[in-house]
Amino acid sequence: MSLAGRSFFRIRDFSREELDSVFSRAQHFKNVYTQGRQINHLFAQPVSKPTIVGMVFLEPSTRTRMSFETAVKRMGLQSIFLGDVASTSLSKGESEVDTIETVASLLPDCLVVRFGGSAQVQRCLEKLPLPVINAGSGQDGHPTQALLDFMTMQERFPQMEGQRVLFVGDVLYSRVANSNLELLKSKGVKVGVCSPEFLLPKGEAWQDVELFTDLKEAMAWCSVCMVLRVQQERHGQTMNIDMDEYTEKYRVDAQRMNWLPEESILLNPGPYVDGIELMSDVLSDSRCLIRTQVTNGMFIRAALVSLLCGIEVKGEQFV
Ligand code: NCD
Repeated sequence: MSLAGRSFFRIRDFSREELDSVFSRAQHFKNVYTQGRQINHLFAQPVSKPTIVGMVFLEPSTRTRMSFETAVKRMGLQSIFLGDVASTSLSKGESEVDTIETVASLLPDCLVVRFGGSAQVQRCLEKLPLPVINAGSGQDGHPTQALLDFMTMQERFPQMEGQRVLFVGDVLYSRVANSNLELLKSKGVKVGVCSPEFLLPKGEAWQDVELFTDLKEAMAWCSVCMVLRVQQERHGQTMNIDMDEYTEKYRVDAQRMNWLPEESILLNPGPYVDGIELMSDVLSDSRCLIRTQVTNGMFIRAALVSLLCGIEVKGEQFV
């Protein structure tokens, strides 16, 4: 099985075996890195032909961008980056489609794109003659985030089937939740949601999830509690959230961590706004794996980029 030349727009683009090959390569990278602080020696042939990863970020990003860049450099590959929109020809009126096609015309070996989710851009990306990775598409999906979240969950619960994953907060506008749901359902995981009525997800895929109105009850139910950021930048003018009421009901802090079973874990894709979705005091709780998610994101992205670029790796055992 080879993923060379393939693109990754959504979870369902890959079969169960293909997804598992990404997880095992990421875990292999992590194990090797943990032992020797490097992974670049794993490449069967030294990466002598420069492999160049093009990155186009049309929406803000810290961890997704930085983890792709670190992954690329850890493997000894190279990257070109377009992100500061004001300094590009987008500010002169060039369209996003033209911008992406221009970067693709520089013939990178793979393209990583974050964009607002427009159908036009999506169509353009699907036609490009090189592997493309979705690094977040509007409200729609964020499949590499779902992979790194699942890797983090699986490190804690090797048998994920039958586990209970709870999403707290703004599920309606969360692309992270959409991609997670797709992956979790395919793995036989139970999903629950605890959010205010107006932030409940509406799509058909969400119809059969467990709904909670009380955070204490919801946290007691779950094996994984994933707190989501309030996506204010996507709400438009019409939604006026009473933040005092929101934090009173849905914010997780160190005290509320007592509601989470001892063996359960707390995740957050990041970023969070301190005092809104989360209080920073949760970070000192050993069940809070927010920083581990970031580290795993680097290994997941290294695995994905190397697989799509057809780069072989030594000592890999597919399970
Ligand atoms: C998320 C995103 O951009 O969708 N961040 C990330 O990539 N880790 C979540 C968010 O912005 O709330």
